[in-house]
Amino acid sequence: MATTTSRPLAVVTGASSGIGRELAKQFASNDFDLIIAAEDGELQSAARELEQLGAAVDAVQVDLSTEAGVDELHRRMTAAGRPVAAVALNAGVGAGGEFANGTDLEDELRVVDLNVRGTVHLAKHVVRDMVERGEGRILLTSSIASTMPGTFQAVYNASKSFVQSFALALRAELKDTGVTVTSLMPGPTETEFFERADMTDTPVGAGPQDDPADVARDGFEALMAGKERVVSASMTTKMQGRMSRLLPDAAKARAHALMAKPGGAEQLKRKFPPQPIKATAHGVIDYGFFALMTAGPVLLKLNPRIRNISWAVAATQGTINALTDHPVALKRLIPMRIHGWLELASAPAVIALPPLAGAVGDRRARTAWLTALTLLATNYTLTDYEAPADS
Ligand SMILES: NC(=O)c1ccc[n+]([C@@H]2O[C@H](COP(=O)([O-])OP(=O)(O)OC[C@H]3O[C@@H](n4cnc5c(N)ncnc54)[C@H](OP(=O)(O)O)[C@@H]3O)[C@@H](O)[C@H]2O)c1
Repeated sequence: MATTTSRPLAVVTGASSGIGRELAKQFASNDFDLIIAAEDGELQSAARELEQLGAAVDAVQVDLSTEAGVDELHRRMTAAGRPVAAVALNAGVGAGGEFANGTDLEDELRVVDLNVRGTVHLAKHVVRDMVERGEGRILLTSSIASTMPGTFQAVYNASKSFVQSFALALRAELKDTGVTVTSLMPGPTETEFFERADMTDTPVGAGPQDDPADVARDGFEALMAGKERVVSASMTTKMQGRMSRLLPDAAKARAHALMAKPGGAEQLKRKFPPQPIKATAHGVIDYGFFALMTAGPVLLKLNPRIRNISWAVAATQGTINALTDHPVALKRLIPMRIHGWLELASAPAVIALPPLAGAVGDRRARTAWLTALTLLATNYTLTDYEAPADS
């Protein structure tokens, strides 16, 4: 790698796939040269992709769960003869399953060796070099998992709690040194992670996942802005981040069991068989209803009393839906039958309040009211509120 360039140098571990590869692309697209590290041959194809983005790349194939691997990477960083401006300590693996009988000790010790030991070891080299220079940016890939006990993924979550705590402590220690530390907290993300962790049969492994490119973009921007942490990338993950600050640990451990239970994806599918057309129509109508109840009164310039009633109904229905219809975990705690009763309970408001408020004399208000009634009726026709029998 050339030593005369004025381009800053970044190091990304675990850059051969997933979030790390996308992080490396962020650096390359923002005019960094790169040292990238991973264990397997796929790293070479990542290097070629990064070179096409204009970066000079040194690909270091090492096992970062070993001391020799970390030392070799640090040796290559020193050999580059250039200051390292930014480091993403991102390499990590998981291990799903029941601790007593479902997982291998070897896999779990590897999680500790890579996620904890390797991260601390490399951080020691990097932090010392950066503090000596009085500048540098460090990104640690933690996880939303760091905020909750990881039932059926016990060692992995504990390793990420370690990384999170380590990142926050380092940040505080380094606050006057010119070195910033940022923690990236992804939620479930579509990478090779779940397959490697043997978790493709779990609800979280088979469920909706974020795009690693979005996660990496959030991480890179937070790193460059010197932020403390970023929860990334979707609204669902961000909500999970907020909720985890409020919920007691025992509740989080139970919720995690629902997400990470081996074989849980199949069980969930049997319990809630997909009804694609009905469910899609239901969703579209729901959103149409909310739009009408929220924006309608403003667009129609209806009086404040009717407007407030309409918003109260939309808020009630919206809350019911948010709690019972969407998140998989809550859906299991609050059966569809209850969802149905809650929705039905708010129907009298839609039906009766506009006439009671004297709004139906107004032609525009009457049209809006009748449209809301039609949407509501169509929705009930489309929805089967009987909970399927337990399998
Ligand atoms: N995906 C998620 O849902 C999620 C959520 C939160 C946090 N995270 C975290 O995000 C980070 C990146 O994971 P990912 O989701 O992008 O998974 P991934 O696609 O499996 O990427 C993992 C990366 O780590 C490298 N790696 C694994 N073992 C290594 C070792 N012993 N030495 C050197 N490199 C090694 C892999 O390279 P090789 O292929 O060469 O082994 C690969 O480049 C991890 O720290 C993970 O804990 C992931």
